[in-house]
Amino acid sequence: MYIINDHPILQFSRDKKVTFYYNGRPLEWYEHDPIAVALHANGIKVLSYTKKYHRPRGFFCAIGKCSSCFMIVDGMPNVRTCITPVREGMQIQTQHGLGKFSENLSHVTARTEEPLNLQTEVLVVGGGPAGLCACLEALESGCSVTLVDESLQLGGQLIKQTHKFFGSSQDFAGVRGIEIAKILQQRLSPHIDSGQLKVFSNTSAVAYYEKENLLLCEQSERRLLLIRPETIIVSTGAMEKFVPFVGNDLVGVYGAGAVQTLMNVYGVLPGKKVLMVGAGNIGLIVSYQLLQAGAEVVAIVELAPSVGGYWVHAAKVRRLNVPILLKHTVKKVIGEGEVEGALIQQVDDEGNFIGEEKYIGCDTVCLAAGLSPTVELFWQANCEMVYVNELGGFVPKRDLTLRTSNPRLWVAGDVAGIEEATTAMLEGRIAGLSVARNLGKIDEESYRKKLENYWDRLNQLRMGETAYRIRRGLKQAFFEQASSLVRFPEEEIYPSQQDEEFQSGVLSQSMVNIVSPPMDLWKKKKGGLVVIECPQKIPCDPCHTNCPTGAILPFENINDVPKIDYSKCTGCGLCVAACPGLACFVIDMSGEQAILKLPYEMLPRPAVGDRVSCLDRYGREVARSRIVVVQEPRKDKTYVVHVPIPKELAMHVRAAKVIRDG
Ligand code: SF4
Ligand code: SF4
Ligand code: FES
Repeated sequence: MYIINDHPILQFSRDKKVTFYYNGRPLEWYEHDPIAVALHANGIKVLSYTKKYHRPRGFFCAIGKCSSCFMIVDGMPNVRTCITPVREGMQIQTQHGLGKFSENLSHVTARTEEPLNLQTEVLVVGGGPAGLCACLEALESGCSVTLVDESLQLGGQLIKQTHKFFGSSQDFAGVRGIEIAKILQQRLSPHIDSGQLKVFSNTSAVAYYEKENLLLCEQSERRLLLIRPETIIVSTGAMEKFVPFVGNDLVGVYGAGAVQTLMNVYGVLPGKKVLMVGAGNIGLIVSYQLLQAGAEVVAIVELAPSVGGYWVHAAKVRRLNVPILLKHTVKKVIGEGEVEGALIQQVDDEGNFIGEEKYIGCDTVCLAAGLSPTVELFWQANCEMVYVNELGGFVPKRDLTLRTSNPRLWVAGDVAGIEEATTAMLEGRIAGLSVARNLGKIDEESYRKKLENYWDRLNQLRMGETAYRIRRGLKQAFFEQASSLVRFPEEEIYPSQQDEEFQSGVLSQSMVNIVSPPMDLWKKKKGGLVVIECPQKIPCDPCHTNCPTGAILPFENINDVPKIDYSKCTGCGLCVAACPGLACFVIDMSGEQAILKLPYEMLPRPAVGDRVSCLDRYGREVARSRIVVVQEPRKDKTYVVHVPIPKELAMHVRAAKVIRDG
């Protein structure tokens, strides 16, 4: 009942089915998927019981970092079932407390292979966006590289990101994360074929011995790797922060990354009714992805007085009828063993509970309340660390080449401070470049030029109004202060303060008037004119780069809000399909009715003649209509549907939902 068979963006290529045994009961799922996923797909969410209070445990992080998914597998206790693939005939048992080895040790398959000793010029730990780009940069400069990654598939968060990236076109703006992961892997594959790059996936970096310069890794819980690298780039990413509330350990409380892994990598839904905690970019994006996967998002609660993520992400989910409750938090999750509902309550400016508790029925609570960098290796390497709240917790101090106080270690990506995947990729490039220079693989002039270029791009991405916390955090994370390469705005920019509705993703009335095209031109223009609802200074430009007529003017700064020359707009709708924030619309006012050209990325797939419910910015149905045209201009599964509606609703309707049965 949790299996996703159809998805508007993804196709799940499943391997052959295997039979495995759960507490002696035969079950089936697809080979190579993690055990926890196979169990989930079979409706089993309880994986273990705690030692002292015998409380049931489900999985939480899905990336091998939290230990909540331990089970006994083929007689071996404490196996992380979220990153251990299921195999034919596997015996899986619920673990109680610390678990016990099987009495029949012939089942135990652990560590049967001899340890592997390796030497390498560059060791990259973590194969997410930063790690993959670090590998590419070092490889392109001629270094030999070894990559170890804990997951079953390379790509880190990219392999679960179905949304299109923001940023600039040279850094994959307008491309979905899943596609970026494929591109990066394709670029690495010739280096793997030539032997210049060795990849060990499903391999955990367990310990770094500084004196011996030895990194101990464990592959698939079966083989040890002893790696002696000349240089190390640590790009181990981050893990979800926990939120303190009663019942936060109930089965069905997941980290947002785990929910993404389950539904977007393996095609299994965590539940049907989800309460999202946190309205940062992750909370907003995962809510949208849950809707795409067929779940209901009953609400997003956010402690702060405004959404922390991009406003356009919030607007996307608001117009699909997801309430965002600001200054609210979860007080208690209720359920007998598994989540059945939650009590939420409003908080005042000091964080005290006020007003009435509200009950929300849900079977899943998804935590998107921030991430903490995974920094254990830096502590083991005796790196100088600093606690920076704005960057998510402890991070290693670094210089402008991202080298830490331990001269053998560099840092890149979320482990250097929580940001976006786009900045992580650039940091990976800087670290890769720097180790190449350190190994004498690149001449000083090329190095300098490239370094300046990467820093220039990073600085631009960090100049937006939502990045002010990152800027503040970064000021504490570098050894050098105020270097010429790291730039900050002369005067700090903060998110614009508007009314309460705006803060939760609904355009305020005064802004509606601002984004409307001039009426004299609009009434005459066959094909319509663009309306852009993107009021925040965020780093993004695909609307401009995809506009064939130059109607969306070049950005002086990539964080500018788009400016439009309406006289050049043909109403072609290319910007509608390209915008990662789904913030561009075209409205044709030249006929008797207004024709809206709206972005569409949901199921059911739209077809001409389909009946649609026309939704306003709050997700309320304000009209019904039929689709008259369906376009897919970029062949990337973002459709542009043309829907006629009465003219007086033209500046209200912002989404269409296909109704197939009513
Ligand atoms: S509708 Fe076409 S011409 Fe008009 S702004 Fe968008 S891309 Fe440019
Ligand atoms: S309107 Fe332009 S700047 Fe705004 S999110 Fe869309 S593509 Fe980016
Ligand atoms: S370690 Fe498996 S769910 Fe966290």
